[in-house]
Amino acid sequence: MAIRTAVIPAAGLGTRFLPATKSVPKELMPIFDTPALQYVMDEAIGAGIEHLVIVSNVAKPGLEQYLVPSADVVRRVAASGREELAERLGRIGSTVSTSIVYQDQPRGLGHAIGCARAAVGGEAFAVLLPDEIMGDSSLLMQLAAQHDATGSSAVGLKRVPPEEVSSYGCVTTTAAPDANGVVQVTGVVEKPRMEDAPSDIIIIGRYVLDAGIFDVLDGLAPAPSGEIQLTDALLERALIGRLTGIVSDIERHDTGTPFGWLEAVIELTLKREDVGPRLKAWLESRFR
Ligand code: UTP
Repeated sequence: MAIRTAVIPAAGLGTRFLPATKSVPKELMPIFDTPALQYVMDEAIGAGIEHLVIVSNVAKPGLEQYLVPSADVVRRVAASGREELAERLGRIGSTVSTSIVYQDQPRGLGHAIGCARAAVGGEAFAVLLPDEIMGDSSLLMQLAAQHDATGSSAVGLKRVPPEEVSSYGCVTTTAAPDANGVVQVTGVVEKPRMEDAPSDIIIIGRYVLDAGIFDVLDGLAPAPSGEIQLTDALLERALIGRLTGIVSDIERHDTGTPFGWLEAVIELTLKREDVGPRLKAWLESRFR
């Protein structure tokens, strides 16, 4: 069955991005002129998603404002000669529906996803973390196909240098990935110390989860940090043989920290046909 709904958890406080996040949600920080959230929504829509569920926080009204369909803005973008962007923006509220649900406090990623339960309904769904920007929709589509084939939850995975493992969820697998990168995940540990990490494979922010995960999340005790961790729910799935992963080399930008965001701004702007050549020339002139 096709995955129709995607949850985008965006209720965190973005403390690593202070002071900007005093007033600007991290998810709306622009990559040149287009918010990170727009990139992530476009990725979901490109994978065939019809319903976007944004988990927000009442302290972040900008998110709501961004999601209001605005024919006037679309018209102005089109009038400025950016037809393709106007078409992208115009889909929100017309062919793609959006729902906003609220998390009262940032009580962890697992808790945030749990807040989307009623909006998702009883179907499998995708999750996209909006502080990771992928080059395209391919990984999400592969994860959906993997879920379709097995009925198990599926997570995006990536090999990273050992020193990076401790910033992410890290997985144990029984065998090497197959030719398509598919691997059975048998264990998950959140942010292990480098010396304790079970592998060099981390979970990246793309998931397709079975609807039963909501019951698992409901039954979880908070981690020592006080947060309900998605990792703990994934571990439960892994231990009963219901978690697969796809090891991917997809282009990925982690915009959750100021430096990662800056790298993404430069890399993604260099790729743009309209402003990339100008940025390249300016950078070259700076270092000549
Ligand atoms: P992060 O941990 O990267 O975001 O969560 P954060 O908590 O906002 O950042 P810092 O650590 O304070 O700098 C990944 C995604 O999950 C959302 C965040 O908004 C972010 O998009 N999230 C996280 C929630 O929606 N609720 C939470 O309780 C935690």
